[in-house]
Amino acid sequence: MEGRSVGSSPAPPPPLHPAIAPLSYLLGRWRGQGEGGFPTINSFAYGEELLFSHSGKVASLISLCVLLFLDLISLEQPVIAYSQKTWKLASGEPMHAESGYWRPKPDGSIEVVIAQSTGLVEVQKGTYDAENKIVTLQSELVGNASKVKEITRVFEVVNGELSYVVQMATVITNLQPHLKALLKKV
Ligand code: HEM
Repeated sequence: MEGRSVGSSPAPPPPLHPAIAPLSYLLGRWRGQGEGGFPTINSFAYGEELLFSHSGKVASLISLCVLLFLDLISLEQPVIAYSQKTWKLASGEPMHAESGYWRPKPDGSIEVVIAQSTGLVEVQKGTYDAENKIVTLQSELVGNASKVKEITRVFEVVNGELSYVVQMATVITNLQPHLKALLKKV
């Protein structure tokens, strides 16, 4: 067959949008374990995988599917696609999942929208510190939730490991930790 030269190098990925570059350390797939709790529930352990992707940087098969979906907007607007899935550590049975978009701005602020598998949706606003690799988010809107009033999320990369803490307030409980996890890049 003609036309395809087997030995030629693949085209280099397009450059990162400058607004995405400060968060490029997040791009890729992360896997690890977490612990959940709240004053009103029994604590639990879970496995987790996170994927941060961007049309200019990630080339795995799953990312390509995300990119196909993102193509129209990612060319014009800097955005990182985010997806998460969790499972019971003992059985591997699926637990909570969520996905959304992270929109960092050049001034160090960031807006994140997340849709959860429970039906709950979040609009989060906050800041990122590229040097210390910390993203701090505070819900501006929590929608379609029967109990949850407020959610905060803090993501931090230290020594190449990604940790996060999620806190929530419900109709009967003030802001308390619900989740913490530690993940490694895979
Ligand atoms: C319980 C919200 C993420 C697993 C709950 C409850 C709420 C909630 C409102 C009930 C608390 C109560 O009854 O007082 C959220 C929110 C999340 C989140 C807003 C994300 C921001 C997760 C994740 C997992 C998880 C990632 C699993 C890995 C559980 C479990 C319970 C629970 C196992 C206890 C259920 C039960 O005992 O019936 N969550 N959750 N949650 N959540 Fe989450």
